[in-house]
Amino acid sequence: MKFNIAIICISDRSSRGEREDKSKTAIEKFLENMAQTTFYKCVPDEKSIIEETLIDVCDNKKAHILFTTGGTGLAPRDVTPEATLSVAQKLVPGIAQEIRSKSMEYTQRAMLSRAVCVIRNNVLIVNLPGSPRACVECLQVIEPVLGHVVELLCENVSDCARE
Ligand code: MTE
Repeated sequence: MKFNIAIICISDRSSRGEREDKSKTAIEKFLENMAQTTFYKCVPDEKSIIEETLIDVCDNKKAHILFTTGGTGLAPRDVTPEATLSVAQKLVPGIAQEIRSKSMEYTQRAMLSRAVCVIRNNVLIVNLPGSPRACVECLQVIEPVLGHVVELLCENVSDCARE
């Protein structure tokens, strides 16, 4: 059975309609045999708006796994990790560590990602970079464990996103 994913594109330009968000399609294509998208939104790099959107997805059980794209770098407006940490109930440092470590095989700039991975309300939140190609490189690292992640999150089925 496929699990449910939410995708939040975090980009000032895409949220204003000035740049097409290609990360959504890249994620969906890579996970097409495993997952279906039940929530998608593009929001600006504003901490309070990102927090609100993360809380809405997690607390209203809109997905098992929530991917954010963008806003993890060093630019002044990049606040995705701070917003993610502020809504977190548990930290999952191993996923972000492994993504960063394997991504160094593609580009040394991987060390510039401040991405985090956390859990809120039995939903796994994974910060991905904004570039569609980078999203796929990061998903390749975690794809082998995603099925088990969903099993663990859904141990208590009533706590879990609807199928
Ligand atoms: N990780 C992978 N696998 N591939 C990439 O091309 N780009 C890096 C890094 N992580 C990259 C990557 C770059 S250049 C930056 S600035 C950071 O992710 C942050 O990207 P973001 O601001 O779009 O989130």
